[in-house]
Amino acid sequence: MPVIDGKSIEVLFSEEEIANRNRIIANEIAGKKPVNLLVLPILKGSFIFAADLIRELHRAGVSSSVEFITISSYGAGQESGEIKLLHDFDSDITGRDVLLIDDILESGKTLKFVRDLLKTRGAGRIFIAALLDKAMRRKADIEADFVGFSCPDQFVVGYGMDAGHAFRQLPYVGVLQK
Ligand code: IMP
Ligand code: MG
Repeated sequence: MPVIDGKSIEVLFSEEEIANRNRIIANEIAGKKPVNLLVLPILKGSFIFAADLIRELHRAGVSSSVEFITISSYGAGQESGEIKLLHDFDSDITGRDVLLIDDILESGKTLKFVRDLLKTRGAGRIFIAALLDKAMRRKADIEADFVGFSCPDQFVVGYGMDAGHAFRQLPYVGVLQK
């Protein structure tokens, strides 16, 4: 088990497994024949997944432009609570296909908030890609179109995801051991 900054981490999804899933997801997205695609990662957690996915999309023959949106959700402890838009983008998305990317789809409040925002701005098709799906935690009525892995009901770190601002740099997804 890797030990990072004194904490043991159980690897759930390895670098290689993630790379394989990204290739498959990119091909699934390519199958939707996106037009004038805007890729919209939700910061911060999705930045590594998004960086890998747009390159796989390129290999699958899909070009995209990229904007970022930063959302925070303040809640008790690790539960998702009130959603706040911390950074917005200003390009016109009227009629454009948008691929929303997030690290984890949990309660669904974050992705629902952003999807609803894009709808009010007249987006064309809105696709959602989430690296991990914690379906057992869902509260909002929303599903991802493309999912990397279904995730056990545990707090995970790595591959962009943090615990107290640490561990985003890990190339795999893992669970912090107590
Ligand atoms: P939702 O609004 O409950 O779907 O929240 C999803 C957001 O919560 C994700 O974008 C993550 O930023 C964060 N999150 C949920 N579960 C975890 C976890 O296990 N590790 C790190 N971040 C998480
Ligand atoms: Mg997030």
